[in-house]
Amino acid sequence: MERATRAIVLAAGMGTRMKSSRPKVLHEVCGRPLLWYPLRALATAGIRDTVVVTNAVVDPHVAPLVAEFGGRTVIQEQQRGTGHAVQIGLRALPPAAGTIVVAYGDMPLVTPEIFADALAAVWSHDGVGLGLTTARMPLPSSFGRVIRSGEAVARIVEERDCSPEERTVDEMNAGIYAFDEHSLRAVIDDLSADNAQQELYLTDTIELLIRAGRPVVPAVCADHRLVLGVNDRIELAEARAILNRTLCDQHMRAGVTIVDPATTYLEPDLIIGADSVVYPNTAIGGKTAIGARVTVGPNSRISNATIGDGVQITESVVLDTQVGAHVRIGPFAHLRQGNVVGADVHIGNFVEVKNTTLHAGAKANHLAYLGDAEIGERANIGAGTITCNFDGTSKHRTEIGARAFIGSNSTLVAPLRIGAGALTGAGAVVIRDVADGERVVGNPARPLK
Ligand code: UD1
Ligand code: CA
Repeated sequence: MERATRAIVLAAGMGTRMKSSRPKVLHEVCGRPLLWYPLRALATAGIRDTVVVTNAVVDPHVAPLVAEFGGRTVIQEQQRGTGHAVQIGLRALPPAAGTIVVAYGDMPLVTPEIFADALAAVWSHDGVGLGLTTARMPLPSSFGRVIRSGEAVARIVEERDCSPEERTVDEMNAGIYAFDEHSLRAVIDDLSADNAQQELYLTDTIELLIRAGRPVVPAVCADHRLVLGVNDRIELAEARAILNRTLCDQHMRAGVTIVDPATTYLEPDLIIGADSVVYPNTAIGGKTAIGARVTVGPNSRISNATIGDGVQITESVVLDTQVGAHVRIGPFAHLRQGNVVGADVHIGNFVEVKNTTLHAGAKANHLAYLGDAEIGERANIGAGTITCNFDGTSKHRTEIGARAFIGSNSTLVAPLRIGAGALTGAGAVVIRDVADGERVVGNPARPLK
């Protein structure tokens, strides 16, 4: 029979220690909800058939995310403990001969390798009931203690059920399990709630498995930080700092200079080319791809942007925008949505750009608003230029031809077309189209004789 490897992820706890109206697993670290991380690590480890145990409040919020990973959710009506949650999860999975990985939804630092190691432990020889991830941690700790008898794992005791002696044990239950499915199904209904929390503990399956002649093989995780659980907002901030540093390290190893990782805020799956430099106080997120030899920051925010090679972005905000090679942006520019910026364009201080295409070599060096516009090649937009794109009801477009010269403080009342090589004088209020090569001045602007 085929050996199926499937997963159950527990996310039905209320997360009361977060003191939040938002379900715990939806709190974000580095731009993704907590639950995203174990789902992603499982998928990367090749485990795609995943059931996430939620509750009625959490479910509508997490179901779309779970579906993105090809998994599904099942509701645990009452939170009667981790063992009870796994009972519910198992009922949603048709029995098979294989392996069931169980993970908790509040572990954002977990890696695919940790799952692979737990699987290797359960598959290490015939008859193993469970591959159990453990980690040595500094004390005190609220994690469940792994009690060994000689070398062998004997049981797990929750911190609040520990004797003083058990509390000094520093090998912890990480909360990641790779169960042989037959063995798990054979014991899961024998759990009892005879403990400090009056709950069905998944951890009690260890003793039951051993009694049934199914040994537990530990997989010791060398870096205990990778299995930290987020239970409150302090742990949320700690997890974010560790994860952010890991993301920075990955980019630095790939040839990106990050001047100050502590004040550089990254998200997963960014592309940043070699010899790019990120200056402090800079956040880069969303679906962003940055080319080679780009400088970003300080004090900048980039999201959902494609940035070409050799671009310089200084103290600016660039959102939902494509930027060609060797463009210079900032300081203090705001490119906010749907812009396409051609090669060698300059966008200087206090320039706001929205839903606008600037063709190669165009310049808007100072103090301008360019909205719903198309700016031709090497056109020059003077300081103080405003595209008046909104008449109070609708948005209108402004087209400016190649090499046009827009004088300082021009007011361009859309809809408007200014031809190639045309000129508007300083302070012109342009309310009618300007032909190619035409020169207009004044308010309202009229042809210059
Ligand atoms: C659990 C382990 C502990 C381990 C620690 C690692 C048990 C009994 N204890 O403790 O040994 O060291 O994790 O982080 O398993 N959940 C449900 N339904 C429930 C109860 C919990 O889905 O009825 C979910 C929670 O949403 C959470 C996960 O299970 O994602 C773990 O529950 P939590 O209460 O955080 O367990 P810990 O006390 O951290
Ligand atoms: Ca926890």
